This record gives sequence, structure tokens and C-alpha cells, in this order.
Amino acid sequence: MKRIIKASSIALALSMCMNAQAADFNFSSKVDNNANTLVVFYSQDGKNSQFKSLNKQLDGQLQRVIDIENFTGDYAKVAQLIAPSKSNYSRVLIVGTGISKEFDKAKAAKLGGNIHAKLIAAKVDTASVAFDDVIGVSNNALLAANFAHGANLRDHRFEKYKQNPNTQTVSYTFDVTNTKQTKANYKQLESIQAGVFLARDLTTEVATEMTPIEFVNAAKELTSLGIKITVLEPEQIKKLGMGALEAVGRGSKQGSRLLIAHYEGSSDAPIALVGKGITFDSGGYSIKTGSSIARMKSDMAGAAAVLGTIKAMALTKADKNVVGVMAMAANMVSEFSVAPGDVLRTAEGLSVEVVNTDAEGRLVLSDAMWYAREYYKPEIMVDIATLTGAKVRALGNEYAAIISDDDTLVTQLTYAGKQVNENLWRLPLGYKDTLKSDIADLSNVGSSGPGATTAASFLESFAGDTRWVHIDMAGNALITQGKDELSPGGTGFGVRLFSEWLLAN
Ligand code: BES
Ligand code: ZN
Ligand code: MN
Repeated sequence: MKRIIKASSIALALSMCMNAQAADFNFSSKVDNNANTLVVFYSQDGKNSQFKSLNKQLDGQLQRVIDIENFTGDYAKVAQLIAPSKSNYSRVLIVGTGISKEFDKAKAAKLGGNIHAKLIAAKVDTASVAFDDVIGVSNNALLAANFAHGANLRDHRFEKYKQNPNTQTVSYTFDVTNTKQTKANYKQLESIQAGVFLARDLTTEVATEMTPIEFVNAAKELTSLGIKITVLEPEQIKKLGMGALEAVGRGSKQGSRLLIAHYEGSSDAPIALVGKGITFDSGGYSIKTGSSIARMKSDMAGAAAVLGTIKAMALTKADKNVVGVMAMAANMVSEFSVAPGDVLRTAEGLSVEVVNTDAEGRLVLSDAMWYAREYYKPEIMVDIATLTGAKVRALGNEYAAIISDDDTLVTQLTYAGKQVNENLWRLPLGYKDTLKSDIADLSNVGSSGPGATTAASFLESFAGDTRWVHIDMAGNALITQGKDELSPGGTGFGVRLFSEWLLAN
């Protein structure tokens, strides 16, 4: 019999999906000879002094392996030595870093995840990672910390519905040049990880458990970190005139919520992050068909990325003023649902004809963006949303779309994304004339034109004169197979991107 444990509170539910025993990382200044597995690095361009010394220690066995395998140190290629003599190791993994000057923190994190998955598959419980002379002393500490970060990100599990959770994990000892610096770097990354894990768990959790109210309850757990939580209930949403946000949530008994999480680490004007929080997107009366409805519990991943980022900023004690505004609703079918053809009034004052109830994300975001501007006067506003299937068709599941006329912000965010393997690709704003309606100020779908762009152009009407960027992360939120530093389930996409951007600018 399958036992599904029904958690009585979301706090319990969320703590249960976190790793029971996470991988642990010790940073020291020597190789652990008693580990089950030794991991050594080999670069394409010969900066391999630690490889050489370990090879000597192992009587030339490492060199024999790479000669036989024609191993040249290509990035992420692995050569393996099993049961080496003159040692206690069960195995040694020789791991390629590629060209040493191209081995950056993004590649290190990816590799950490990748190697961690290999160690788990081989049932390795202790590993010694010889990171002492990888690439050179100056950024060694950063690379080692990111390798560990990647391993830990890959280790994340959500197994509350599994009868037999996988309890296997790896205990790591790193040999690094600068222990203190590596520890400090890793500590910072652990705070960001906590934000990523929160976003992943919120996204992976099933829609009946992760409703607007449960999402709000999860956010309330963050008050102990000094984050100020404000929640607008359906009556207040109505009273403020947020007719679009109100309408989308009307088909479900819970109704909509506007959730605000404010981390005020400086007295500067805030940066507003606005997230789409549709806890389930059935499409509404314009109902989704076939498999397109199956993964729509993840339609709140924009809001999850926002909340995860706010948590990460609080944990890192960043000197930033960041306010997250999350538009929460379930887009369901009922007698009370918004119907195609209805006209809604946004708080901005613009009326919107709902031509298609499945274009609900832009509706909830329009009022959330208005609220962020009106109540927080942000210097910059970035919205993030699983907004359009058109984005998935244009860019696939690995790149997210970035859409804005602010070249500086596009450059900054794209650069930040590259540092953390959360890549952005720019699509244009425009085709605004396709959003005309006979009866209202705007139609919620473009009559023609590229779907990701027309959706963004709809949102532009609610950005006022605030510097604004739109990120469409449809397709990036949920994966079924682990890859590199991503574990199966919610990806937490956006948390590392935003954290990197906020901390660097
Ligand atoms: N949540 C969907 C977009 C989506 C699609 C996310 C695939 C993740 C994967 C969004 O609300 C939606 O349904 N958009 C429609 C808009 C259309 C009706 C104009 C779409 O893209 O089909
Ligand atoms: Zn949606
Ligand atoms: Mn939809």
C-alpha cells in the first residue's frame, strides 16, 4: 500500500520535501586518502600539477588511464580508474575541465552537478575532490565553491509522495588552496541555494496542496528572516480596483491573493520583482486540451522565483531594497469563472476584453505591476512569468526570453544569467496594434504577431514610466530528468539569475 503522508501545515510539508540528509562539504587543505572515491581534474592545456603529483603517488596509474582512453581533458569528460593499487580508493575519477581559462564558475557548478550524479549512481558515499591546483590560485576558491554548489543543487530531492525515498548521499572533502575563502564563497552560495530550494519545492508541489492560500502561508514562514509579508485578500483586491487579478481567481473557491514580500536591506528606492503565481492553469473556459494541461501546476514558477530570490537576499544580508509582488490565483472552470468576451477593468484604468481566458497571466500581472509601481515607486521593475507557449516554440526549454527596450538592463540580466547557467535570449517588444479591441481599451490576446512579444507588449501598458524588463520563463520551470546542477522537478529558474544580478549591480 502506498502511504501518502498528508501534512497538516505547509511548513511541515515543505520541510518534508527538503533533503532528509543533504550532501555535506568539508573544505580542507589536503586530499582525504580514506575517501571511497578520489576526484582529480585535468585541463586541456596542461596546467595539471596536482594531477601530476597524485599520479606519482599512485605509481603512474592515472597517466596510464588517460593514455589508454586518449583522454585530453575535454570539458566534463570523465576517465575512470577502478581499484587502484597503493591506495584505499575504490575509484578515481579524472575529470576534464576543458581549456583552463574558459573554466568559469558557471562551468564549475555544472560540472559539480554532473559529477555528483555520477557518484550517486555509483553508490559512492565519500569523495575527496582534489581542487588544489585547478586553474590557478586566484579564482580557485570561487570555482571550488561553485563546484560544491552545483553538487548540492543536483542533490535536491522532493520525495514526500514516494514510498521509498532515496536516502543515499555523498560526503565530500575538498582539498583547496584557500580554505577560508572557499568556505566564505560557499556560505554565500548556500544562502542562494536555500532560495532555489524554496522555489523548486513550491513549483514541484501539486496544485491541490499549493493553492494561493498555501503559497501565502509558505511566504509567511519568511518573516523570521526579517522579510515583511503583506497579503491582500479578494475583498481588498476588489476595493483597490484590481479587476483583472480578481477575475482570474474567481473560478476557484479561494479567489486571488496579492502577496508582497519586502526585504529592505538598504534605503534606496526598491527594485520590484513581479511574479506570475497561477497555482494551476486549466485555461479556464478556453480550456487546455491534451497534454498541454498536464504540467500546469508549475504556472506559479514566476512567483516562486520571486519569493526564492527575496529569501536568498535576506539570507545573504544583501544591502539591497527588493520588493517581491506575487499575483496568486488558480485559473479554473466554474459557474463563477471569467467567460470569454467579458470586459474587465484594471487598476491602471484600462479596460480589457478577455478574448481568451487562457491568456490569464498577463491579466494578473497587469494589476500586480500597477500595485508595485503605485505602492513602492520602484527604480526598476522586472516581471517573471511562465507566460506563453510561443516562447517555448521560439527558444525551447533552456533559454528564457528577455523582452525590454532598456538595453542596459537587458545586458546586465543576460550577463548575470550566463554566470549561473540561467540563460536569457532577447526577443522584441512591438506589435502593439494587434492588441486592439472593439469594445475595450485592450484585448488580452494579439490578433496576429509573435505570441511572446504581443504578451510583453500587453504588459508594457502597465509599466508606466518605470524602467521595466519582462522575462518569459515558460518551459523553464519543471524538468522530468536531472541534468547538470538541476534535479528532477521544479528548477527554481530565476533565483540564481536574480541573485547574481542583484548582488553584482
Ligand atoms: N501558462 C501558459 C503558458 C505556458 C505554456 C507555460 C507552456 C508553460 C508551458 C499561459 O497562461 C497560456 O496559456 N498562454 C497561452 C496564451 C494564448 C491563449 C494567447 C498560450 O501560450 O497558448
Ligand atoms: Zn498560465
Ligand atoms: Mn493560460
